[in-house]
Amino acid sequence: MNILMVASECVPFVKVGGLADVVGTLPKYLKRLGHDVRIILPKYRSIDGKKYDLQPLPYILKVSVGKDIEKFRIKRGVTEDGINVYFIENMRYFNRPGIYGDGNSDYGDNRERYIFFCKAAIEAAKALMFRPDIIHCHDWQTGLIPAYLKTNLKNDGFFWNTSSIFTVHNIAYQGQFGADTVAAAGFSWEDFTTDKLEFHNNVNFMKCGIGMSDAVSTVSPTYALEIKEFNGMGMEIVLNSRTDRIYGILNGIDYDYWNPKTDSCIPANYSKDNLAGKKICKAELQKMCGFDEDEDAYLLGCVSRLDNQKGFDIIIDALYGLRDKKMQFVILGSGDQFIKLQIQQAVSKMPKTVAAFFEYNEPLAHKIYGGCDAYMMPSRFEPCGLSQIIALAYGTIPIVNRTGGLSDTITYYNHFTKEGNGFMFNITYGENFVQTILKSEKIFRDKKNWDALTQNAMNCVFSWDKSVEAYHKMYEDAANKKRHELLFRV
Ligand code: ADP
Ligand code: GLC
Repeated sequence: MNILMVASECVPFVKVGGLADVVGTLPKYLKRLGHDVRIILPKYRSIDGKKYDLQPLPYILKVSVGKDIEKFRIKRGVTEDGINVYFIENMRYFNRPGIYGDGNSDYGDNRERYIFFCKAAIEAAKALMFRPDIIHCHDWQTGLIPAYLKTNLKNDGFFWNTSSIFTVHNIAYQGQFGADTVAAAGFSWEDFTTDKLEFHNNVNFMKCGIGMSDAVSTVSPTYALEIKEFNGMGMEIVLNSRTDRIYGILNGIDYDYWNPKTDSCIPANYSKDNLAGKKICKAELQKMCGFDEDEDAYLLGCVSRLDNQKGFDIIIDALYGLRDKKMQFVILGSGDQFIKLQIQQAVSKMPKTVAAFFEYNEPLAHKIYGGCDAYMMPSRFEPCGLSQIIALAYGTIPIVNRTGGLSDTITYYNHFTKEGNGFMFNITYGENFVQTILKSEKIFRDKKNWDALTQNAMNCVFSWDKSVEAYHKMYEDAANKKRHELLFRV
């Protein structure tokens, strides 16, 4: 099949969170199944054209956004796995320091930026003569593409056989704007109806993606159920109108990249058969954080966007609640300024046991996954979560809230049967993170059990091999339904 991935992030070029990991990894596995996969991304300023040897293609294209005509170029790059990536270059919308905002708030013209991007992706496919069987769109930034295919492009010969897939990575970010978006995006008012563009008298990009694509997926089976039942943030009714087309497919991680045996960012390599290197990683991390280099101190870490989703209020309470214990905490994160301030306060009060780095720092993330004993992830909701899966690969034990993808990947360690790969608590049932950390510390201090738990963690494999089959099946289902619809139309 010809598959066109359209997304706003993709490793190694641009990453804010796990969306980038998924968009950067899934194509490699689809390619192994024999598909021709291409990726379309915005050319943000932070993407280094020289480093990635991006080559301008000889077209200057244009699309309209509201009353403006926006010109753009396409630059082509190729990933290490030989996948073509096309970058949409437009100075007005993407030549800025940030991706979605300036660090304090989202850009005020994100609506226009992603209307432009969706339209440009469609024009780019045409200019490249890449006629997709599947356009796979990710998150709200690409939600208008399925809508264009079902409205303005309904009778467009180029896309007559194209099915659209929309993947929800996080339903909390929906891209909802006023009704004037109909005109800004160039839709017809006739399509401003509940079954198409309209959502509470607004245009909601995510609703367009969910409601107008040929199949919808989200990134774990449990989250797929949760968003239909109670966690859909207003989107439940839309999802329930499409239950026959919703797939919950668990993310994997790229074990070639997240591998403590070969990782060049950590001070010493190790594997489940020889964990000596992990001790060195711990000691180096303690040194970097200004902590005592003490093997017996229980070292817990977290690498995350600073966002309420991730349960930072719960983490911050735990920092204070556990201050008298033989524990150390390290946090790497960027995002919400208020969360940052609260963490800074905790660091200033407990500098010998709490350290924080407020930046996006890939090598440091690896050092934290490698050097910590346990990983904190008390997310209030979590569509899938990759951090806990990465932590498992590094033998760093996840302590998580039972929600979404965390429920699908983490099982409570049972010291009688020696089964399980982490620790869980349930916020909804009033269970407590601090108590769960204390329980995990008991196991940490019991070497035999901790060794067994570490082995269990490192034996877990959440690879893309299985998930890619599920994506493939979803593509086939969508293509079959499309064929059926076309027959019916004729
Ligand atoms: P989300 O996509 O909600 O942010 P995930 O757990 O799916 O959460 O993915 C987060 C990804 O982003 C992981 O690969 C994690 O290591 C990475 N990450 C998050 N914050 C940072 C940071 N400040 N520096 C480096 N990597 C980060
Ligand atoms: C989102 C979710 C996260 C998921 C990631 C990749 O950002 O918050 O849970 O792992 O997308 O699908």
